[in-house]
Amino acid sequence: MRLLVVGASGFLGGEVCRQAVTAGERVVGTYHAGAVAVPGVAARWLDVTDRSAVRALLAEVRPDAVIATPYRYDDWSVTADGAAHVAYAAAEVGARLVHLSSDALHAGRPTPYRDDEPPTPVFPYGAAKAAAETAVRAIDPAAVLVRTSLIVGEGSKQIQLCLDALAGRATLFTDELRCPVDVRDLAAAVLELTRSEVAGPLNVAGPEAVSRAEMGLLVAARLGLDPAGLKTGTSVGAGLHRPTEVRLDSSRAAELLRTRLRGISELLAG
Ligand SMILES: NC(=O)c1ccc[n+]([C@@H]2O[C@H](COP(=O)([O-])OP(=O)(O)OC[C@H]3O[C@@H](n4cnc5c(N)ncnc54)[C@H](OP(=O)(O)O)[C@@H]3O)[C@@H](O)[C@H]2O)c1
Repeated sequence: MRLLVVGASGFLGGEVCRQAVTAGERVVGTYHAGAVAVPGVAARWLDVTDRSAVRALLAEVRPDAVIATPYRYDDWSVTADGAAHVAYAAAEVGARLVHLSSDALHAGRPTPYRDDEPPTPVFPYGAAKAAAETAVRAIDPAAVLVRTSLIVGEGSKQIQLCLDALAGRATLFTDELRCPVDVRDLAAAVLELTRSEVAGPLNVAGPEAVSRAEMGLLVAARLGLDPAGLKTGTSVGAGLHRPTEVRLDSSRAAELLRTRLRGISELLAG
């Protein structure tokens, strides 16, 4: 299979590339401000906000499947428009599309979210991810939209945030619950999905919901760090308008996929 990983220089994209190359796939991977660090990947520069460039690359590479990961937290043109450009170009060449979405498109509530619940974004990043989904679904109803949560693992921004909070340099919120997923599990699930016919939104996250502050304590225990220094707070108290409790119910993915999605306690158990 010829795979195009858009955002191969990113955290998830890099792991997808590693696993795909190991499995013997032919992989083309794109970068923008960063670089592709995985040997065996044919690296190409791409700006997803440039619709013509995206179409030209897809027409040249002619992939069987495209994995679309790009986003910028505060840039609608990358997160929303860029996702639409990739979906349009993938549809033009008849490629299977696996689009990376996020739990950030939900408002937050005490009960878990099922796969097919419509977005209820409360902040710009969530709105951009919701817009991306709408565009991707309209262009290619057969595409799968992987709704995931905090991506953890070696080199993860989320683990670094925990380390910063343990050193008093950042704050972890007690009122923001998420379902962290290991980057290796998520990448394996994404690669499985390139060969499946699953369409529409699919929750692909860990089975265990924890607050960011609880995750900080698990990281401290895993690394033998003193938890006393952990700086915590609440997002409500900080005046932030962000989703609070977002639990993704990933039971459908657990049934559909061979990849087991591990919970954060198991991942950080040692
Ligand atoms: N990280 C999480 O905890 C988390 C949680 C939920 C959902 N997600 C979703 O999962 C996906 C992957 O996340 P990640 O943590 O792996 O992201 P990441 O490490 O920040 O990677 C983002 C990728 O987007 C690329 N990119 C940014 N601007 C671009 C542009 N204008 N044109 C082309 N590419 C561009 C980056 O390329 P350069 O680095 O080369 O510029 C990079 O390869 C995203 O769609 C995100 O919304 C992530």
